[in-house]
Amino acid sequence: MRTAAEFNLYYATPDPWHISQARFRDKVLRRRLKRLIRGKSVLELGCGEGHLTDAVFDKARSVVGIDISDVAIARAKSLNLPNARFECADFLQKSFEGYDVITAIECVYYLSFQEREVFLKKVAKEHPGKILLLSGPIVDYRRHFSHRRLMLEFTALGFSPLKFSNLSVYWYPPSFRIVAHLIKLPLGHAFLDWIPESMVYQRLYVLRAPKPL
Ligand SMILES: C[S@@+](CC[C@H](N)C(=O)[O-])C[C@H]1O[C@@H](n2cnc3c(N)ncnc32)[C@H](O)[C@@H]1O
Repeated sequence: MRTAAEFNLYYATPDPWHISQARFRDKVLRRRLKRLIRGKSVLELGCGEGHLTDAVFDKARSVVGIDISDVAIARAKSLNLPNARFECADFLQKSFEGYDVITAIECVYYLSFQEREVFLKKVAKEHPGKILLLSGPIVDYRRHFSHRRLMLEFTALGFSPLKFSNLSVYWYPPSFRIVAHLIKLPLGHAFLDWIPESMVYQRLYVLRAPKPL
């Protein structure tokens, strides 16, 4: 896991990952998540500067956004979003109890394989039978974030993968960029889930945490 100081270094410049320009990702997330989020209480892990809180989770009844970077959290608070409050913390140290939905969009791949197992077991214990939305690159990021490995891990820990959806196309080799551009055309998003796995960069998983025995 990276430290707060390391993430604050990223946030020395606002919007370090150019997330505010990821309008296609936001559009796809909005479409895929609206029924799961509307009217619900949401715990948003790794919320950063609050971009998704504003662009995707605005229809949630309430959102608690958690991020390890106090710099990012200060920026998120300055958005003054009516349905959200933000806290600076390592999400592995926060209680996951009492929410309808937990989201972990593009933040779990910063955990080591062992930490991810701790994270999933914590979700299973503190959020049993409820929905976890998790996303990240599945290009075997740091050799432990591939689709196959994730599915094995989810099922071994008793999670039910309800659905997965592709969010973006990998830019390498350069020939993939043609497809990456085509899916951004109007209605192109409808073909996202038809793209072969080898071309997929990021994927969203809708998971149900195991119910207590
Ligand atoms: C790539 S950014 C993604 C931000 C946002 N979820 C999005 O997709 O637009 C990853 C965020 O996760 C946060 N993060 C990573 N590990 C964390 C942890 N253990 N606890 C809290 N936040 C964490 C980082 O500080 C960073 O803001």
